[in-house]
Amino acid sequence: MEVVDAIVLAFWVMLPAYVPNNAAVLAGGGRPIDGGRTWGGRRVLGDGKTWRGTLVGTLAGATLALVLSAVAGDVGSAVGVDLPTFPAPAVVALPLGAMLGDIGASFLKRRTGRERGAAFPGLDQLDFTVGALGVTLVAAPGWTTETFTLPVLAVIFVLTPLLHVTTNVGAYYLGLKSEPW
Ligand code: CTP
Ligand code: MG
Repeated sequence: MEVVDAIVLAFWVMLPAYVPNNAAVLAGGGRPIDGGRTWGGRRVLGDGKTWRGTLVGTLAGATLALVLSAVAGDVGSAVGVDLPTFPAPAVVALPLGAMLGDIGASFLKRRTGRERGAAFPGLDQLDFTVGALGVTLVAAPGWTTETFTLPVLAVIFVLTPLLHVTTNVGAYYLGLKSEPW
């Protein structure tokens, strides 16, 4: 597989997992998922994980997956890469898994004494990727193993941290996020 093809494919299949976090930043607020509960003297998840952010984020990613499926043929022939469509289980699993990965990371951050918004380098950049791939592997195993070939996975694990850092620094300077990570 050509490197450029792998980059295009990686970006295409991961878009429904990238968008939820950004949508959650825009939509966040309201009741926290943990309802304010604490565990071991610290919040279970914290105020940064809300029902509204999680729901809107998942819906935004699922909607995008449906749109991408509808235009896969046209976009694929325009860029000269065979772009996959998203089967129904993957439509839900990619964004939901991304949100769950991010929630799991907040759980770990609180357990390790990090306050809301504290950075956890590495985890911050890859939590949603691991969540999205894990949940999608369970929901659509055949599609996942066919789509996420080794070159595509390699690109994902390099591209995602770079994209995450740039979008978060951008969101910070636009005043959408209180920390640049
Ligand atoms: N957000 C949300 N629900 C989610 C994820 C994010 O409402 N499931 C919103 C919150 O307003 C959150 C913002 O998006 O403050 C930024 O997300 P993130 O950086 O993941 O949260 P933090 O506030 O940094 O909290 P944490 O330390 O737990 O990551
Ligand atoms: Mg954060």
